[in-house]
Amino acid sequence: MDKLAIIGGRELYGDIPISGAKNSALKIMVAALLTDEPLALKNVPELADVAMLKKLLAQHGVQLSGQDNQLTLHTKNITSTIAPYDLVRKMRASFNVLGPLLAREGNAKVSLPGGCAIGSRPVDLHLKALTAMGAQIDLEDGYVIASTPNGLTGASISFPFVSVGATEHTMMAACLAKGQTVLKNAAREPEIIDLAQCLIKMGAKIDGAGTSTITIDGVDRLNGTTHQILPDRIETGAYAMLVGATGGELRLRDTDITLLGAAQGSMEEAGLIITPHDDGFSVRREGERCRAVNIVTEPYPGFPTDLQASFMAMMVTAEGTSTIKETIFENRYMHAPELSRMGAKISVDGQNATVTGVSRLKGAPVMATDLRASMSLVMAGLGAEGQTMINRVYHLYRGFERLEQKLSNCGALIKRVSE
Ligand code: UD1
Repeated sequence: MDKLAIIGGRELYGDIPISGAKNSALKIMVAALLTDEPLALKNVPELADVAMLKKLLAQHGVQLSGQDNQLTLHTKNITSTIAPYDLVRKMRASFNVLGPLLAREGNAKVSLPGGCAIGSRPVDLHLKALTAMGAQIDLEDGYVIASTPNGLTGASISFPFVSVGATEHTMMAACLAKGQTVLKNAAREPEIIDLAQCLIKMGAKIDGAGTSTITIDGVDRLNGTTHQILPDRIETGAYAMLVGATGGELRLRDTDITLLGAAQGSMEEAGLIITPHDDGFSVRREGERCRAVNIVTEPYPGFPTDLQASFMAMMVTAEGTSTIKETIFENRYMHAPELSRMGAKISVDGQNATVTGVSRLKGAPVMATDLRASMSLVMAGLGAEGQTMINRVYHLYRGFERLEQKLSNCGALIKRVSE
């Protein structure tokens, strides 16, 4: 299994191009199942999760072509409505094929998902929404078996809490349903807007994406289109926060600071100086150390759970004591004991973590446990004195494109080593 070897303690200077958003690309790729015409995507990140989804889509009959971050998906015919366990368990986003398969073919058998080990992550909201739209759903041997004897019909769906996946899934299915669907308490993430914009170009009638009420008027068919995936705000935020851990100055290109929502304010409060440019922004640290800042993770535009680990990696060497409250996922502090191995002072109590900043971390062997946790270890390693060896690094390649290359170009000493 590959490891990452990092020699820390260097300030980082240079440009980092930000990739297309993983969480948007994965959903928009699935939208290719909704039309028999080609869907041409630009700015698709080359990531393990994207490769995994390509495999799943290919076995549903999607023809895939393209290179250099361009990907065309063409679903002339759906050749299988079964999404097998082996392909779905590794990545939760693949569960979202269920709605489009149902909408287009009237039946589907999709394995219950897996994904990062960050809590139980059920799919009950997805299933309730599809049921409200007329799907008959049974659970059998770890599979969801669904059919729509009379086709999907529009419904008024009020989510009991905000779910990105359930909002996207229902929005896609509703595009081809009969009549109007109204989603209340919908997620407002930029990736929802990106998906909606792509679907609208495909002929869907969607209003209100980006607000908490989304209205979809079903159409008979969707067409192909060309769409550019929006920049990855989590990658953007992680590299910006990295400057808080290492010092130096990074210029993040092909991105937009406004995508960061509340995270921008928290970074600035912590002492990062952000200067917007036409194609992104520059970020540098105001002093020798960041200041302690308290955060609470919330649905967008609140502080994103996917940047909680990165923020902690910045706080472990900040001046003062900060508190972090994780309200979205249970069990999302697996990076805390690993950061502690490097000298961080963190105590975790349920959904709350208290971080008392120390002046410097010391490199150590650590274990990556999930995608976002892995990045926090990279950040901590780059800020620490001496060598850090990160084990189980494959998690990182699910979400960070060309990580070592981007960081090495800015002066980081980071190398992937195979055993
Ligand atoms: C997406 C993102 C993930 C991010 C998360 C929250 C992708 C591929 N992944 O995940 O990176 O961390 O949004 O911003 O886009 N829940 C239920 N029942 C459901 C659905 C969700 O209880 O049917 C719970 C989850 O367990 C979690 C919360 O709702 O506690 C929010 O999850 P959700 O917004 O659905 O996250 P994902 O779409 O899985």
